[in-house]
Amino acid sequence: MLSKIVKSTALLALTVCALNASDFNAQAEKDRIEAVKYFEAKFADPEKNKDKFFPYSTDAELKNDYEKNLKHHDFNIGTYAYSKDAKMQYDAIKEMPPYESDIEAGEELYNKKFANGNSFATCFPDPAVTNTYPFFDDKKKDVVTLTSAVNDCLRANGEKEWDTKKGNIANLQAYLVNATTEAGKKFDIKIQNADAQKAYENGKEFYYTQRGYLKMSCATCHVQGAGQRVRNEKLSPLTGQITQFPVFRLKWDSLGTLERRLSGCVVDQGQVPPKDESTQMKELVYFLAYMSNGMSVDGPDIRK
Ligand code: HEC
Repeated sequence: MLSKIVKSTALLALTVCALNASDFNAQAEKDRIEAVKYFEAKFADPEKNKDKFFPYSTDAELKNDYEKNLKHHDFNIGTYAYSKDAKMQYDAIKEMPPYESDIEAGEELYNKKFANGNSFATCFPDPAVTNTYPFFDDKKKDVVTLTSAVNDCLRANGEKEWDTKKGNIANLQAYLVNATTEAGKKFDIKIQNADAQKAYENGKEFYYTQRGYLKMSCATCHVQGAGQRVRNEKLSPLTGQITQFPVFRLKWDSLGTLERRLSGCVVDQGQVPPKDESTQMKELVYFLAYMSNGMSVDGPDIRK
């Protein structure tokens, strides 16, 4: 009898533990799946769904320039998933990708020795791991992004940290991300405990907070607004929005990091962006990456 009670109590304790361990990402999973469902519904047939999702678009545009029946993984290429015209231009540029030499420059940086004899290969022995960034570091009690990890590696080896927007950092990331893409890896972001869960929630809050005199949030443009045309571009969706960084933007005429792009969008909201290695920026990236969980890493890439 006693042993039975002990056994069942132990079993109960185990079950509770197991429940808790998987529970930390329960809300995030719900958010992720809801977003996928929303975008799939929205882009099932833009012309037919005009009243519900695209009240300001013309019938001709909805009929001629939107792809239909998009599914989850189609959103990996952002706006090019649904803009027929932009997709043609994108495909043409991809035939001779302008970032090939940046990947090579990144490979050289990866193998180059620091003054102390170590190298980035010491910090990233397997380059094909960018699908696990950002992660929540239990010891630091903070999020580690690919960008902060690169600078952490430099600092730990007595080297000077890099500019976080372009140049060396973008090239090194291009090499690591390209290796991850070639290995066929999918985003695999973990939320393993209550602190990590809090970091995710903070990032989500940043995304949904209205800012500036127009009171716009990231979601105004990239959830409700996804697919609407702003000037000559259609807004990209939250789902799969960061699977392709670093990107070569025609506007920049160079390769840039995710943080460079995010900062631009915050400035467009009339705000001062958080610093690239600040907890606030890292939490935003953590949220965005979680929303791309299960999708293929697909970088580097090009954008207008
Ligand atoms: C006023 C509308 C607007 C707001 C608000 C806005 N953005 Fe953007 N964002 C754009 C436009 C326009 C583009 C370029 C077209 C596209 O790819 O969506 C863009 C592009 C992006 C991209 C690149 C997508 C890609 O496929 O390369 C990311 C990531 C992004 N925004 C994130 C954010 C985040 C995070 C916020 C909030 C901090 C935000 N944006 C706020 C308009 C906006």
